[in-house]
Amino acid sequence: MLLFPFEFRMPRLILHGPGSLRDLEKELSRMALKKTLIVTSEAIQSSDHYAFLLEMLTRSMIENSCYTIPAGEPTTMSVREGLNQFLKDRCDSCFAIGGGSCIDTAKAIGILATNGAELKDFRGQDRIIHPLPPIVAIPSTGGSGSEVSRYAMITDQEQRVKMMFSSPLLIPEIAVSDPLLTVSLSPLNTAAIGLDAFCHALESLTSKKEQPFTNILALSAIKLISEHLRKAWCDGTDIEARSGVMLAGILGGICTTNSSATLIHAMSRPLSAIFEIPHGLANASLLSTWADFTYLSCPEKFRLVAETMNYDSHRENPLEGARMGIEAIRALCSDLEIPSIEEMGIDIDDFESALEKMADDALTSGTTDNNPRAVTRKQVIDLYKRAYLG
Ligand SMILES: [Fe+2]
Repeated sequence: MLLFPFEFRMPRLILHGPGSLRDLEKELSRMALKKTLIVTSEAIQSSDHYAFLLEMLTRSMIENSCYTIPAGEPTTMSVREGLNQFLKDRCDSCFAIGGGSCIDTAKAIGILATNGAELKDFRGQDRIIHPLPPIVAIPSTGGSGSEVSRYAMITDQEQRVKMMFSSPLLIPEIAVSDPLLTVSLSPLNTAAIGLDAFCHALESLTSKKEQPFTNILALSAIKLISEHLRKAWCDGTDIEARSGVMLAGILGGICTTNSSATLIHAMSRPLSAIFEIPHGLANASLLSTWADFTYLSCPEKFRLVAETMNYDSHRENPLEGARMGIEAIRALCSDLEIPSIEEMGIDIDDFESALEKMADDALTSGTTDNNPRAVTRKQVIDLYKRAYLG
């Protein structure tokens, strides 16, 4: 790991903790903005937090226009709608307040606002040329890490493909991570976003692009999830637990930004695009199967995961210690009642007929090569089949 050069990127400013949204106001006056496009969801638009954001913008003399995204994963169509509004209203920035879909939509609007052309032209790694308008990301879920990450995911409805965009230019200028915005999340969504953050940390830790900074952050995120996710799942009003999960989301997002995701995210994108399974849940449904497949390529990392999750892995021989890591991951998914793909109601015939396309899309998604264990097309298909049954 110390034999290769690396870089480390994150937003200019991160505000974290209960009530941190109010701390954004002092930054607004320094940003010299005239009019911003607020990208949000219907649920957030009717919340006190949204009203508070509007008040702060008004006090800071920043006009606003609001684009409410449709329900579901962000699509090329919703991005185009938001862009039209951004241009029509002559906005100079985007404030995304809501789930990862709102933040990803704001990023994609930003790509087109300054780079023009079609979104698909910027798909993949480092294809974006011009800096985006300033983006302030205020997640209401936390876990996707989009508020701090270099990634955006947008579904191309025509091709039924989830397009990944990756560039340092996609890192928001400011991330506001206030757990008070997350208390109304359902237990299932809480589990899904928490395990998305867990996957970011674990994939980064085991990635071929691992590096010293992100390894420290990844283990911190894994510890936070291990200590807080079950509590937040049991009691959504437990603010300390919510804060812990949200902080893990930030750390996980910084980890993938600098060390990349691997095979879980490569395989979850087609699953989400074809069967409309939410991103976090798709990752969670693949997590244990991936761990079984991967741990032998980096047993010391899985042993470290076990230790971080309070398993006494150092008393066992290295491989036994690594298997404890898998045991810890399985226990976490089981406690949080993560359904298998079959239990999500996906028809077996539909699933089998999509296997070839999902495998092809996973292999070309851009993060498979970072997996510590190399994987063939046949193995990807087999992993999907195993994950289907859970
Ligand atoms: Fe993710």
